[in-house]
Amino acid sequence: MHIESKIVHGGQHPDKETGALAPPIYQTSTFAFRSAEHGARLFKQEEKGYIYTRLSNPTIDLLGSKIALLESAEAGVVFASGLAAIFNVVVTLTKAGEHVVSDNTIYGGTYALFKSILPKIGIEVTFCNTADADQLVSCIKDNTRLIFTETPANPTLKIVDIARCSEIARAKNIPLCVDNTFATPYLQRPVELGADIVVHSATKYFSGHGDIIGGVVVGKKDFAHQLWEDAKEIGACSSPFNAWLVLRGLKTLAVRMDRHCESAMKIAEYLAKHDKVEKVYYPGLTSHPGYELAKKQMSDFGGMLGFDVKGGKEAGKTIMNSVKLCILAVSLGDVDTLIEHPASMTHSTYSDEELRGCGINPGYVRISVGLEHVDDLIADLDQALSKI
Ligand SMILES: Cc1ncc(COP(=O)(O)O)c(C=O)c1O
Repeated sequence: MHIESKIVHGGQHPDKETGALAPPIYQTSTFAFRSAEHGARLFKQEEKGYIYTRLSNPTIDLLGSKIALLESAEAGVVFASGLAAIFNVVVTLTKAGEHVVSDNTIYGGTYALFKSILPKIGIEVTFCNTADADQLVSCIKDNTRLIFTETPANPTLKIVDIARCSEIARAKNIPLCVDNTFATPYLQRPVELGADIVVHSATKYFSGHGDIIGGVVVGKKDFAHQLWEDAKEIGACSSPFNAWLVLRGLKTLAVRMDRHCESAMKIAEYLAKHDKVEKVYYPGLTSHPGYELAKKQMSDFGGMLGFDVKGGKEAGKTIMNSVKLCILAVSLGDVDTLIEHPASMTHSTYSDEELRGCGINPGYVRISVGLEHVDDLIADLDQALSKI
């Protein structure tokens, strides 16, 4: 089956009892046992069934299995947020005294989790540029238990060679986890390129409508089972309604992504020609250092882009305060076009030196291209650029 058909039908069947085509929302905290013995068997995992929604729930499980199918993975686990998904992956694979290697250009919240929270529980993180194979190899230690990367990276759209990273990770027997939020499985499937684990902020393109927070992890069955065992006790479970909204949003992922990509390319081309724009960051432009690699490992270039304006931070602020159609807000992957300033917003968890180190300039502006008519978006950016 093509991915477009899996996106519509995957993991789904009309409800067995009623024939309802849309999956039911099992909006319940608990599930009644048939008898005391039945409840005890479920707790011992001698029999399959539902106990309590923090442990599992049919609506939430359906989402996990659907994302696993789309990512060519064996199993999936759903979380309350993308960050909860990432935290649970780390906690399942590492313990105090162990080590993680992470790319240095990642979502600012993930960066803060790795830089400030993990050391509190004795997990050390080394940041490096995972696109540089030598750097990655040199950061791996005997106690490294996880390699984490994000591609395309938030916010610079840096492209990391997933197959190369997975070769390095495999040679050392360390799992490779890829944050695939920007691409989605419609454009890129890290497991097919050798990654062991894929994480998502389902808040973004999966939901597509900016109305929930959610996260998903997919990987091998044994890993997903252990992740689920640990997650039960950590408690960052999704609500059934949020999982249902993601299932609903997912149905249109392919057509939304096609439009996001098409419009992002046109906006990138427009910005690249603008005399007030210093540099455009979009992997679909041949000038982008990751263009060839993106062409190889992605089926299209995505809906995210960024640019540096001439005049730095002040000029960037002028644009963000002048747009009328684009919304000044963080998050991404929504039907609405969102514009933001990473250095003071999504990546304010980086110091100025750390920002410089991974090429996030003070005036860098990030755009999540939405589903409005592209000519209206270009007209809006044009009038905002004219205010500089
Ligand atoms: C690439 C990426 N990964 C993870 C996250 C965290 O996801 P959430 O906000 O759902 O916790 C984000 C949030 O912006 C993100 O952009």
